[in-house]
Amino acid sequence: METHKKITIGLFGFGVVGEGLYKILQQTPSLNATVKKICIKNHEKKRNAPASLFTTDKNELLNDRDINVIVEVIDDADAAFDIVTTALNNRKEVVSASKKMLAEHLPELLDLQKRTGQSLLYEAAVCASIPVIRNLEEYYDNDLLHSIRAIVNGSTNFILTKIFEEGLSFRQALTLAQQAGFAESNPVLDIEGFDAVNKWALLLTHAYGITEHPSAILFSGISNIHAEDAFVAQSKNQQIKLVAQAQKLKNGKVAAFVLPQFVKQEDHLSFVKNEYNGVEIESGFADKQFFYGKGAGSFPTASAVLSDISALRYHYHYEYKKLYHHQPHELSNDFYLRVFISFEDLDVVPREKFEWIEEWHSGEERKYLVGVISYDELKNNNWWKEHKISLILTPDPVIEDITIRKLKKKSLELAGIFS
Ligand SMILES: NC(=O)c1ccc[n+]([C@@H]2O[C@H](COP(=O)([O-])OP(=O)(O)OC[C@H]3O[C@@H](n4cnc5c(N)ncnc54)[C@H](OP(=O)(O)O)[C@@H]3O)[C@@H](O)[C@H]2O)c1
Repeated sequence: METHKKITIGLFGFGVVGEGLYKILQQTPSLNATVKKICIKNHEKKRNAPASLFTTDKNELLNDRDINVIVEVIDDADAAFDIVTTALNNRKEVVSASKKMLAEHLPELLDLQKRTGQSLLYEAAVCASIPVIRNLEEYYDNDLLHSIRAIVNGSTNFILTKIFEEGLSFRQALTLAQQAGFAESNPVLDIEGFDAVNKWALLLTHAYGITEHPSAILFSGISNIHAEDAFVAQSKNQQIKLVAQAQKLKNGKVAAFVLPQFVKQEDHLSFVKNEYNGVEIESGFADKQFFYGKGAGSFPTASAVLSDISALRYHYHYEYKKLYHHQPHELSNDFYLRVFISFEDLDVVPREKFEWIEEWHSGEERKYLVGVISYDELKNNNWWKEHKISLILTPDPVIEDITIRKLKKKSLELAGIFS
C-alpha cells in the first residue's frame, strides 16, 4: 500500500462492533477511509446505514479490486477464518476482532502473513480499547518482561462486579451484561473462560513468542464461584476476579493460566470494575506498569479497530519480534499453585493430590481448604470443575520450588510429629 493511500474498506459484520466502527468512521473524515460494502448474514434486518451498502455475498467484498482493507468483525469463528484467509490470499490487508478464530489458527495465519506479505492486525481482539498488543510488540521488545497479569474479559468482570457490589444474582448480572452488549453472542464463551484464554493465547505470542493453542493453557471461568466464596473474599478484604497471568520462571520457561483469583485491595486489578479491563506488566527495570480501559462495548472496541485501520496507512504490521527475532519462550508445567477450594462434600476432593494443606474450614453448607497443588494435576484432571467444587487462586499463587517444604514435612513425619 502506498503511503497514506486512500483506504477503501470491505466491512464484514454490522453488529455491536461493526455498526460502532461505521459510526466512528463518519466522524473521522481525516482518516480518508470509506466503507464501500458491508457483508452481513441476514438481509431482512433493519440497519442504520444506506441499504445499498449491504450484501450477503462475501465475494462482492473479497473480489472487489477497489477494496484494499477487509475489516472482519463477525461472530462466527469458522466463517471469519475463511474470510480472513481469502482476503490475505487476495492481497488485501486485514483487521480482525475475532479472538477465537485468531487464537485457534495463529500458526496458519502467521504463515499466511509471511507468504503474502499482507498485514493482519487485531488490537481489538484483546482488551478492546487498551493498546496492549502494540505495546508488547513495540515497547516491551526485550527480554525483561517478568510477568503480565490481566483482566481480559469485560463481561465476567462486569458480572463479578454486579454480584460483589450490588448483590445481584449470577443470572441477573449476566442478563445485564448481555443487554449492554458486553457479552459474547454465546455467553458460555465468556463465563466458562474460553474468551479469556483465547485472548491470553494471543497475548503470549506478543509477550513471549509462545504460539500455543489455547487448549494448552490451564483455564476456567466464573460459573462455579459460589456466593459463600464471595463472603470469604469480603471477610479477607479481597475480591474475586478472573485473572489471566503469565510469569517467567527461574527455569526460563513461562507459567501461564486463566483462573479466578482472590485479589487484595491494594492490587491494581482490584480497581478494575464492570466492563473495564486492566493489564499489569512487570518488567526488569521499570517495575510495574498498569493499563486500564474499556474491554468491551461498541465504541471502545471500534476505536481499536479504527487505530489498526489508521496504522495500515503507514504499512504497519506485527513483526512478532519475540517469536522471530528473540529466542521464543516455552510454557512450563513444572510449578505449583496455592489454591482455595470450596465444596459441599469432602469425599469429592482428592486430598492426597495436594502437596500440603494450609487452612481448613468447615461451615454448615460449605467447607473450604487452602492448599498447594501441582499445575499438572489441575491441567490433566477435571475433578476441580465438577461436583459443585469451586477453585480460586490465592494472591501470589505461583510456587516454583517446594523441595524445602517437602523436606520439612518428611523430617516431621520421621520424628512422628506429622503423619
Ligand atoms: N462486542 C464487544 O464488546 C467485542 C469486543 C472485542 C471483540 N469483539 C469481537 O468482535 C466480533 C464481533 O462481535 P459483535 O459483538 O459485534 O457481534 P454481534 O453484535 O453479534 O454482530 C455480529 C455480526 O456478524 C454478522 N455475521 C455473522 N456471521 C456472518 C457471516 N458469515 N458473514 C457476514 N456477516 C456475518 C452478523 O450479521 P447479522 O447482523 O445479519 O446478524 C452481525 O452483523 C466477535 O468476534 C467478537 O468476539 C467484540
